[in-house]
Amino acid sequence: MTKEKLLELLKDMSLEEKIGQLVQLPPELMGDDAMATGPAQSMGITYEQIYECGSTLTVTGAEKLKKIQDKVLSTQPHKIPMLFMADIINGYRTIYPIPLAQGASFDTKLSEECARMAAKESSYDGLHVTFSPMADLVKDSRWGRVMESTGESVFLNSEMGKAMIVGYQGKDMTEEGSMAACVKHFAAYGAPMGGRDYNTVELDERTLKDEYLPAYEAAIKAGVALTMTSFNTINRVPSTANKWLMRDILRDKMGFKGVLISDWGAIGELVNHAVAADKKEAARLALEAGVDIDMCTESYFANTKALIDEGLISEELLDECVLRILELKNDLGLFENPYRFADEAKAKECILSKENRALARKAAGQSMVLLENHKSILPLSEKSGKVAFIGPYVDCKHLYGFWSLWGRDEDTASVRETVDEFIKTGELSEKPSFAQGSNFLKKGEKLVQFGGYADIPENEDEEGMLNEALNLAKEADTVVMLLGEHAFHSGEAGSRTDIRLPKPQRKLLDEVSKVNKNIVTVVFSGRPLDLRDVKKRSKAVLEAWFPGTEGAAALLDVLYGKVNPSGKVPMTFPRNVGQLPMCYNELPTGRPNNGDDTNRAMSRYLDVANTPLYPFGYGLSYTKFDISPVTLSSDTLTKDTSITASVKVTNVGKVTGSEVVQLYIRDKVASVSRPVKEHKGFEKICLKPGEEKTVEFVITEDMLRFTTINNVYESEPGSFDVFVGNSSATDNKAEFILK
Ligand code: BGC
Repeated sequence: MTKEKLLELLKDMSLEEKIGQLVQLPPELMGDDAMATGPAQSMGITYEQIYECGSTLTVTGAEKLKKIQDKVLSTQPHKIPMLFMADIINGYRTIYPIPLAQGASFDTKLSEECARMAAKESSYDGLHVTFSPMADLVKDSRWGRVMESTGESVFLNSEMGKAMIVGYQGKDMTEEGSMAACVKHFAAYGAPMGGRDYNTVELDERTLKDEYLPAYEAAIKAGVALTMTSFNTINRVPSTANKWLMRDILRDKMGFKGVLISDWGAIGELVNHAVAADKKEAARLALEAGVDIDMCTESYFANTKALIDEGLISEELLDECVLRILELKNDLGLFENPYRFADEAKAKECILSKENRALARKAAGQSMVLLENHKSILPLSEKSGKVAFIGPYVDCKHLYGFWSLWGRDEDTASVRETVDEFIKTGELSEKPSFAQGSNFLKKGEKLVQFGGYADIPENEDEEGMLNEALNLAKEADTVVMLLGEHAFHSGEAGSRTDIRLPKPQRKLLDEVSKVNKNIVTVVFSGRPLDLRDVKKRSKAVLEAWFPGTEGAAALLDVLYGKVNPSGKVPMTFPRNVGQLPMCYNELPTGRPNNGDDTNRAMSRYLDVANTPLYPFGYGLSYTKFDISPVTLSSDTLTKDTSITASVKVTNVGKVTGSEVVQLYIRDKVASVSRPVKEHKGFEKICLKPGEEKTVEFVITEDMLRFTTINNVYESEPGSFDVFVGNSSATDNKAEFILK
């Protein structure tokens, strides 16, 4: 439809119809007995009005959504189709690794391919919009939603977000197999105080602009169709009512023209934030901030007409929002084809296809991070002798993480089942033995999920489980411990103040380590955990994150050396929870810790080092890489020139492997204190034994900009260090001057 036609349509719509477009209905209203449910009545919505609303979320299935669309088309006076949205975070039915793990892969192409696969599966099943990517920067692994972020580097987050958007949206959203993406949560949702979800965010404007906002802006430049507001306040103003953030920054400065949607219930929550007396005032504030869609509250539905009638807002303000929603529907091709790609046969063929499973397996393998590998205990081979797999993850199928709403146990094989399968197919020749060893959680402990307690198996006979495991461990030459958080320990509202392994698993590892010294520990988690004890008791440690539907196969690929691990941690692993928040790009402080223990007056803790257990960008391989000193094409940079920083990388080990070569820059003296290092580039390269490759990074003036003392985003002349290495701890550097 042309813009003129859209404007004509808008002009012809009644006030009620327009308001309907702003309303996003909760899934429970879309059942056949919509009117019978409580929320329908509490929203004050009639059966007919449901089908005049603009969108709904979390309802899927080609057949079901086509039926709903039919009702919409026969009810909505102008036959304006409904939008179907959902959280497709790391896959729809074929689940690939959680976003934090994708960050660890440092492989943007792979994330793009995964996003494409998710868009295909879900759009054939009738969906139009995914609430992904999450571009929130994170520094505190107490926050459960770090699993949904790609980590603590704004550079990595920007690159990953862009790749996902390209994957979801394709070149044009009318292209088969594409869907609209929604960047979230604008803004700075990833910096809640104390790591407690939904909590207050206090960030100075410079940090907000330089570190937190650029990843959302990158998504907007990549053409993301929607943006979602965040639940939190920033400097005392809730985002959903923040005119400065939504109009001056998002719309005017970043140039976002798409649909702005509130997070679930966030408009109503303005009352809890105590900036609105009631939902009517909340609706006014959100509309004035330019929030187009009200996700799942009645604030807009019940109050917009009165706000206009009473002259508290203008109808033009409403029209602005409606037009943006109509434009999105138009960009998705819904006016031409209201069912879009919903197709039962295609969905059946595509969902969990061999090809999709292979991609999920590849992505999981690429995202695992080898944290320790003493005496090359990994990969497992004949030299490993008799192998025992021990831990609650032996039989667990919930390998897909918190936000995989359509991930199903019956589509996922556990590690034990996958070993059996590999023995059958000949991928493995020696069968290891298995024992669960412990429960996930302490006796009687429960984990709350949305809608009640999670069903986490608990075996009454804890002693029996432990003894079985110890007997196996005694007989084995090598023990592989499969430990970790449960998926519901992280994700939304999954904040924790203790980020160690759950207690029964710590005990299990402790006991096993008394009878066997050859321990490889695999950690499943949605966040960096405190792994000090794990490190002490294990010769190798492998971070597997939540690897998805094909996670067990990918894990065996890595453990047995079919895949050489190449992931790097996308978030600092602290030594303990007391160090949090923590990140690689800290400021130097006036009293940097120079390691002199006799000097008390330094910025440090008395009981733990300042350094992390594993720094950002760290990860090992089954081979070794040599990185040459950095050479620069020039030692002077101007606004019109560029410098190339290069290193030679050589695989000096015995097997083929991939290395993530990373670029960091330090601005040595500036008008405001600058980070000790800033991540500015990376390239993942694969080398055969003995092979050498030159990796080059082009440095330009715009990469050196920041918000200066004059509150201007610009660079300042002076001296800069360029670091190139295989983690943020590298001191392989050269220097240049910006004129
Ligand atoms: C989350 C969003 C999500 C939305 C819809 C909220 O609770 O914060 O990230 O997209 O629910 O499911």
